[in-house]
Amino acid sequence: MTIKEKLNCYSTEFNARLSEFFPLGTEAESRVVEAMKYSVTNGGKRLRPFLVNETAGLFGLTFEETLRTAVALECLHSYSLIHDDLPAMDNDDLRRGKPTCHKAFDEATAILAGDGLLTYAFELLAQEKTAPLPQTRCELVALLANAAGAFNGMVAGQMLDLLAEKFPESNSETMIKRIEEMKTGRLIRYACEAGAVLGQASVAEREKLIVYSRSIGIAFQIADDILDVEGNPELVGKRLQKDAEQGKLTFVGLYGLDKAKVLAKDYVAQAKDALLSFGDKAETLCSLADFMINRDH
Ligand code: IPE
Ligand code: IPE
Ligand code: MG
Ligand code: MG
Ligand code: MG
Repeated sequence: MTIKEKLNCYSTEFNARLSEFFPLGTEAESRVVEAMKYSVTNGGKRLRPFLVNETAGLFGLTFEETLRTAVALECLHSYSLIHDDLPAMDNDDLRRGKPTCHKAFDEATAILAGDGLLTYAFELLAQEKTAPLPQTRCELVALLANAAGAFNGMVAGQMLDLLAEKFPESNSETMIKRIEEMKTGRLIRYACEAGAVLGQASVAEREKLIVYSRSIGIAFQIADDILDVEGNPELVGKRLQKDAEQGKLTFVGLYGLDKAKVLAKDYVAQAKDALLSFGDKAETLCSLADFMINRDH
């Protein structure tokens, strides 16, 4: 199977299980659950859930044993997209080929749907079914809070992304790396760390997965920035050519497409190096590193 086929297989299985996490009531407030469900079930490559599953798989865990952590992370990711698309942020109308949450519902509902998904992620992680040991669940919760938060986490990255737009004089590779590592990299890193935590990995194994995840995280965001410039809008499912228009600070903006592509490849090579000691077991994760930059959406 190619990596694309493996990812498709995984996401079909993952998607088939999503509805059970979003029971829809008949009360008026169910509108917010409807908006949450709309955003999470609305396509998406499911890269982060797949990463949780594959890293935990290195230690023998099954789809079922990783599912709830994977769903929690996808909820958190979907919240970040809903808020990222809001008029006050990137002001986008299209997400995963469909109207963004605030277009399909309304702005206030989209804000609440984001809030609902963010908090639900932690509710899911804390439940006993997620992992047998309380210590494991506690670690999953604490790591996600840090990865998603304002102290070097996703929220910090989003803040810098917005500030860099307003202060272009701060352009530099260090700044871009900081933005991309935090706004995108931290959730990708969480996917791999969560896999290690679920799988009771050793400190050394976990370190290797962190090195891998940091490199694929940056490569992934460079690819996102490249797709913004030269992607096929039908496939990407988002409005394109908006980073330059909005004055976003990206590797592509700083170095141009060609150098950005070379950099992305370097990060992928570093990622694969980090997994050498896992041998053949890490074959899918290595192909996934390549896929991070060879994707069309
Ligand atoms: C998009 O992430 C947002 C970024 C961090 C660049 P994905 O490209 O993983 O989005 P989906 O989940 O597949 O829609
Ligand atoms: C989004 O980065 C990162 C997060 C949602 C945290 P972008 O703003 O580049 O993502 P897209 O291009 O809208 O998916
Ligand atoms: Mg953004
Ligand atoms: Mg955006
Ligand atoms: Mg983008």
